[in-house]
Amino acid sequence: GAAELGPYRHYMQKEIFEQPRAIGDTLEGVAGIVPELFDGIGQDGATGASAHRVFKDIDKILILACGTSYYSGCTAKYWLESIAKISTQVEIASEYRYRDSVPDPKTLVVTISQSGETADTLAALKHARSLGMEQTLTICNVATSAMVRECKLAYITRAGVEIGVASTKAFTTQLAGLFLLTLAIAQTKGRLSEADEARYLKEMRHLPVALQSVLALEPQIIGWAEDFARKDNALFLGRGLHYPIALEGALKLKEVTYIHAEAYAAGELKHGPLALVTSEMPVVAVAPNDTLLEKLKSNLQEVRARGGVLYVLADGDTKIKGSEGLHVIRMPEHYGALSPLLHVVPLQLLAYHTACARGTDVDKPRNLAKSVTVE
Ligand code: G6P
Repeated sequence: GAAELGPYRHYMQKEIFEQPRAIGDTLEGVAGIVPELFDGIGQDGATGASAHRVFKDIDKILILACGTSYYSGCTAKYWLESIAKISTQVEIASEYRYRDSVPDPKTLVVTISQSGETADTLAALKHARSLGMEQTLTICNVATSAMVRECKLAYITRAGVEIGVASTKAFTTQLAGLFLLTLAIAQTKGRLSEADEARYLKEMRHLPVALQSVLALEPQIIGWAEDFARKDNALFLGRGLHYPIALEGALKLKEVTYIHAEAYAAGELKHGPLALVTSEMPVVAVAPNDTLLEKLKSNLQEVRARGGVLYVLADGDTKIKGSEGLHVIRMPEHYGALSPLLHVVPLQLLAYHTACARGTDVDKPRNLAKSVTVE
């Protein structure tokens, strides 16, 4: 009801603004990087499984999820391979459960789910277990869910109840959990120096404050949303860690505004989607650090030559300036490895405010459900 919404118009907006609190709660009590953070919850009074033992044994990760949770998994792949140096595969749960794959018992199967009740993700987990992969861990927002019961190890995110169908705070808390998982595996395997551990912990503790200053960009995003509300298509570009964030930005826009949106790895622009660029196709570029920007500049000319308009979320330390057909919102800081958590926030706000401008049912988009518990 209205009382719960406080100053916000919709749950989606409230949940976007709750992210500093949600991340703070999710990371509360994390004094150091220890595998025990992921220990089994010990259903029915049993002692939970030991994450330390599991992390020592595994040499591969298989992430299974759907929707927004799948994109948090795609982001984590970059962390797991670059920081923990562990080979990681991310699969859409509904694809994995029905295809022939090559199982490896030394795999840690990681499911990611806000609800813990998504039918495809639960079925994919069962499928992996039936193939002999018994080391299972879930990153989940509901401690009492089927997913938590079915997995050996668990990390419960503390987003709190998420009501908006389009997931926002659940996504960023999943990322926080997955970053911790990366560090815990790296540490168990002796791949995390004390200096790096201390630096990452410091960066994580800074997240609530950093998120707060990104949320303060809302008025600038509303300016962008006014343009987007009049379009039928949009393209999102990202690179590396921010490619999944571009995918999530496009998904958010589709879900709540019904604008057709696609995301591409920035380097793929010239291999097809450039053909779509006209003055009616806004192009959002996510987190271009200077190296990406250099590459984007030539694309930029091509986009401009076709009348296309660019909306760039630039890192705090980039030198790009706005001009005709080039809109820039500068992020307050440069965030390093945690950058995806910060860059997704303006995209959530863009989808939200574009939806408001178009008058859609933001919290309950047509044809979608909060949790898909049937196939
Ligand atoms: C539905 C929701 C999405 C969510 C997906 C996976 O499609 O609308 O927001 O990302 O399910 O849900 P889960 O609860 O498993 O994260």
